[in-house]
Amino acid sequence: MNICIIGTGYVGLVTGTVFAELGNDVICVDKLSEKIAMLENGKMPIYEPGLEELVVRNRNEGRLSFTTDIKNAVENSEIIFICVNTPPKDDGETDLSFVKAAAKEVAKHMNGDKIIVNKSTVPVGTGDLVHNIVSENNPNNYDYHVVSNPEFLREGSAIHDALNPDRIVIGASKRQVAFRLLELYASLEAPILITDVNSAEIIKYASNAFLATKISFINSIADICEKVGADVEQVAKGMGHDQRIGRSFLNAGLGYGGSCFPKDVKSLIHTSSGLGNEFSLLKNVVDTNERRASHFVDMIKARFPDMKGKVFAVLGLAFKPNTDDMREAKSIEIIEALEKEGATVKAFDPIAMEATKAILPDVTCCNSSYEACEGADAMLLITEWREFKFLNLEKIKEAMNIPVIFDGRNLYDPARKRRLGFEYYSMGRGEWPKS
Ligand code: NAD
Ligand code: UGA
Repeated sequence: MNICIIGTGYVGLVTGTVFAELGNDVICVDKLSEKIAMLENGKMPIYEPGLEELVVRNRNEGRLSFTTDIKNAVENSEIIFICVNTPPKDDGETDLSFVKAAAKEVAKHMNGDKIIVNKSTVPVGTGDLVHNIVSENNPNNYDYHVVSNPEFLREGSAIHDALNPDRIVIGASKRQVAFRLLELYASLEAPILITDVNSAEIIKYASNAFLATKISFINSIADICEKVGADVEQVAKGMGHDQRIGRSFLNAGLGYGGSCFPKDVKSLIHTSSGLGNEFSLLKNVVDTNERRASHFVDMIKARFPDMKGKVFAVLGLAFKPNTDDMREAKSIEIIEALEKEGATVKAFDPIAMEATKAILPDVTCCNSSYEACEGADAMLLITEWREFKFLNLEKIKEAMNIPVIFDGRNLYDPARKRRLGFEYYSMGRGEWPKS
């Protein structure tokens, strides 16, 4: 099938590449000419494991191309995916200006019947909005259908998730249109759910908000564990064995960040309140999440009441492992708070160092965890990259000024770290530091 992808970001690039891998002819469009130039030179604008190899192969085999020319891309495609960004406004409402602009462009360049698919995460009702925009800008009255096909991939495992989805949701007003889209996914062997457009749009927000709720729930349990000397990791394990609950998304720590959970939870709160229903549960999820970074900083302050002149080694900067994405990364809030208290930060992240420089200019960027820990008064583990689990901690201890670890993601075993001679503090697992 001939497919056009509008918006070549995390979702558009991965989706387009995977559709090409499945044998389709795909044109990925972006308005950023630098991004398209990079991709045309075989360079990836984002870090995503396994992406580069797939892009290069599909491009060499002629199934995948990149362009800024939306007219040509629309004219040559029967299915058009809108994968543009949907950022939040200050009040939590989703900014749909990029979706609207993309819809208008598609309508303007239609040269025949098209299926237009919203893959961006958009509030309920956006399908109708896109439908109306296309209708108003479609002078030749070509036939078209607007479908919702939300994306559930995670950054850091995006290719794997796109090729092995837990489910595929297709929201369409006509079954035969849904079946056209279904053909694209037929070889993936995933459960497929065909719904109306509104339900598909809500499924996406409800899923993200539910996962965020699990995270804030376990973080509230972690607060109780901290006060009574219990271990939240054991609690999560004990809960997770119940198949109705499941162990996933019960990792206590610094809370959720990234480009999606924070904005999508707030957007659902906004939608609900616009309909006259205050979604208090989700408001509490947000509040709980927004307290996690300051809770961590309070823990550090309890050990170092005067931070002036202290040097902290931060390990991990990206909002989660296996990505260089710094959007709503907890590292930003924590580092800014420590710098405000007069501390100096040396940091290392396996991939996100370049992205960090522009956001946190006062941080000393190091080439390794060991370099970051040299002369440090404490090590702060912010993102649980796998390589941090296997550090030579004897070497780290020798390099540090004071061997103190604050583990924001419960990556390490407390007993083992203490046996090695570290003062060790983590989230919801017992001791609170004393100065
Ligand atoms: P992104 O910012 O990485 O990419 C969006 C791209 O769209 C940018 O490159 C931008 O230049 C381009 N763009 C915007 N308007 C355009 C236009 N009119 N014409 C051509 N290009 C245009 O965003 P993303 O992270 O890929 O997210 C896209 C959507 O998918 C959002 O709604 C997001 O919530 C959703 N989503 C994201 C993820 C994720 O893991 N990042 C997962 C599931 C769903
Ligand atoms: C999330 C969803 O998992 C995807 O299904 C969805 O498609 C995507 O949002 C989206 O809509 O954009 P992503 O943000 O890439 O994916 O990453 P997650 O692995 O879900 O992690 C999100 C945040 O939650 C991270 O900051 C992570 O550290 C945190 N988290 C996750 C926890 O604090 N505890 C957990 O148990 C799990």
